Amino acid sequence: MPSNSAHTAKVSGGGTGPRHVAIIMDGNGRWATQRGRPRLFGHHAGARRVREIVEACPKVGVEYLTIFAFSTENWKRTQVEVAGLMSLFRRYIFKEMQAFVKENVRVRFIGDRVRLDAKLIGLMDEAEAMTSHCTGTNLTIALNYGGRDEVARATRRLAEDVAAGKLKPEDVDEETLPKYLDTYVLPDPDLVIRTSGEARISNFLLWQSAYAEYEFIDTLWPDFKAEEFARLTSAYGARDRRYGAVRA
Ligand code: FPP
Repeated sequence: MPSNSAHTAKVSGGGTGPRHVAIIMDGNGRWATQRGRPRLFGHHAGARRVREIVEACPKVGVEYLTIFAFSTENWKRTQVEVAGLMSLFRRYIFKEMQAFVKENVRVRFIGDRVRLDAKLIGLMDEAEAMTSHCTGTNLTIALNYGGRDEVARATRRLAEDVAAGKLKPEDVDEETLPKYLDTYVLPDPDLVIRTSGEARISNFLLWQSAYAEYEFIDTLWPDFKAEEFARLTSAYGARDRRYGAVRA
């Protein structure tokens, strides 16, 4: 049985849409290459798509949207692409902040901030603070995020608490560890979507997605439209999720 109460309610449910959708936005590079343009052109097109999907969330009943913007592995890309992406994130956050407040979107970031530049961190802090009162869609942007890195960082903090006598080793269980994860305020994702035809999870929300449904679709991220998002969320409602239990 699941330990997460947000999920327990759905075991006997059926016909309900996903409350939390996580997306691996893949295919920007190929989309640009197909058009004879540099990869960053695809990332800019991808950023525009984020707005459409965020706006679609309330219409399809999605309360939490978590998007994979930059992984701990993405630093291996060329210096030009990494710098271009970082500049895109800075501009995106700066530009969208007011719109998020207006649309009642609460923004959060997950991932390790240590490798990010100070200006970007400042904008992330500002976006989180400015939208902290928003009660609509919860948008979480994963930046310099890796599932294994997150579990390792969480374990380190947990070990520090044990060493400081704040936590007993015998109290460490499936309820305790997630409190140390970056996602501690979020419910687990119900549906994980990956665009661009790759059937991999690439280190995204490893702990949190233990019971998630997956959709691997061929569409490249810059072509992913609100209609397809609505189709996938509605298809999710038809699935029979048992979390290891047997339906009565
Ligand atoms: C994967 O496509 C995409 C990324 C590594 C970056 C994701 C970033 C965006 C969608 C841009 C905007 C996001 C925000 C929050 C502003 P890829 O480059 O791996 O594509 P490929 O597999 O075709 O090469």
